[in-house]
Amino acid sequence: MYRAVIAFYLLSAFAAGQTFRPNIPRAWDDGEVEAFQVPLAQRDRSPRFLNSREYYGLKVRPIYRTYPVYAPGREPAGYMEGLKQKEPEIVFDPSRLRTKQDWINAGEVVFDSSPFPRDPGLPLPMALVAGAPATRDGVIPYFRYVIRKKGVVEIGGATSCAACHTRLMPDGAVLKGSQGNLPLGRIFAADAARAISGRWTLFGAPWVVKREEFESISIYEYARRNAAMQPGVQARHGTTDLSPSKVPSLIGLQEIRYLDSTGLTRHRSIGDLMRYAIVNYGLDITAHYGDFQPSPVSNGFAENGTRFGDEQLYALALYIYSLKPPPNPNRLDKQAVHGQRVFQQQGCVGCHTPPLYTNNKLTPAQGFNVPEDLRRTIDILDVSVGTDPILATQTRRGTGFYKVPSLRGVWYRNAFGHSGQAETLEEWLDPERLRDDYVPKGFHLGPGPIKGHEFGLKLFHDDKEALIAFLKTL
Ligand code: HEC
Ligand code: HEC
Repeated sequence: MYRAVIAFYLLSAFAAGQTFRPNIPRAWDDGEVEAFQVPLAQRDRSPRFLNSREYYGLKVRPIYRTYPVYAPGREPAGYMEGLKQKEPEIVFDPSRLRTKQDWINAGEVVFDSSPFPRDPGLPLPMALVAGAPATRDGVIPYFRYVIRKKGVVEIGGATSCAACHTRLMPDGAVLKGSQGNLPLGRIFAADAARAISGRWTLFGAPWVVKREEFESISIYEYARRNAAMQPGVQARHGTTDLSPSKVPSLIGLQEIRYLDSTGLTRHRSIGDLMRYAIVNYGLDITAHYGDFQPSPVSNGFAENGTRFGDEQLYALALYIYSLKPPPNPNRLDKQAVHGQRVFQQQGCVGCHTPPLYTNNKLTPAQGFNVPEDLRRTIDILDVSVGTDPILATQTRRGTGFYKVPSLRGVWYRNAFGHSGQAETLEEWLDPERLRDDYVPKGFHLGPGPIKGHEFGLKLFHDDKEALIAFLKTL
């Protein structure tokens, strides 16, 4: 009896996370890498990455302590001088991590860190010109300063996960892991003369359009396309500035089975999330797409010859899995309960199935014929919702599919549809958006319809209001 009690206490102490022995998968395992990507619509252009021997030959980047960035004139007295006196400090050290919470906290450090910091001379003024907002305390929450060498203060710029996946809420709260609202498109527009030079490396897909033609746009046109992306939308590498992607929220990611709007990457395990980060931090730029390699080196985007450590990635993934939604101010009141019934009656539940509000399936983009072999290996709902097919069929992220996105947290987002073509739920559910002379409020390059996904457009006024009220409670 006595022994059993002790065993019980030991067990509960263990369960409370007193000790945590992580079972860290080998992230860049050749077999897993082979299996985790969904093939591209143009199958023979699916990426071939570095192999595991080459990958593990790269050096692990140390992660240094970072410091807040303030808007001009808002720093505490002597702030920058103080930073110049600081010694570089490596803050990620797996040998010091004991509990699961320690690992999660270390993952947040990875999330905030920038693998490729640079001179603050450029990114900060550009961000300010583009209107990056500051918190009440004057902090610009998307960026951090870092000291890798005493006396040299660098800035993370838009290369930390936090830069793009942090949202400054209207009430001043900083929501990490959310659909971010750094105005990245506008930053690129402000920096167009310089930024345009990286365009082919980021977006080139010669099987869609030849290089000369692709590069024939003017700086003005480049700036116009980027300026048209509201915060929360950006031309991620592998998409295109004609059809950029919305930034997804990472809150609740653990149950989401396909990553990216086009479902490019499977998410079967924590290892897949680790691989996702690896691919997006340089490996997709140096991959071969048939005979095309965007760049032999990770070219300005990534520092060559370095990588994340598997422990860093594991901590990062645990941190992402630990993210909780912010308190929702919208209540499930009488109107919202009515909206919930409308949601069921309209058949939204078939795709946006509770409790995740997604069925975790991929749907073919308009005009894409599902290859037979994929029906056996991928969860497909073979019904096209008819949205604009460019991102899914004519880019390096194009699998031919759009995933059914989760509707959790739509109340704090401002970019709906894979390119954030609609800015609000009201707009997404407005039949006017199908008109040829419609001017979208979200990403658009001229008047024209927000095509497809015609669900819930024909509702009576009260039912529609109720449906929207319900969606805002999720
Ligand atoms: C420059 C901006 C930017 C940075 C930096 C960035 N992301 Fe993202 N992230 C995006 C965008 C945009 C997408 C959507 C891409 C798409 O749909 O094809 C995305 C998609 C994702 C997804 C897929 C989620 C889903 O539900 O589909 C994950 C996971 C993710 N990012 C994690 C990270 C992590 C981890 C880091 C840091 C290691 C990071 N991101 C850095 C902009 C960024
Ligand atoms: C046949 C499956 C299907 C049905 C039915 C469906 N949806 Fe969707 N929904 C999708 C897909 C797929 C997308 C993504 C389209 C894209 O990215 O181009 C989407 C996108 C959305 C979005 C934008 C979310 C975001 O993050 O961009 C909202 C909001 C939405 N649906 C609400 C609804 C509502 C409300 C209903 C019912 C009136 C409904 N959907 C019915 C498949 C469906």
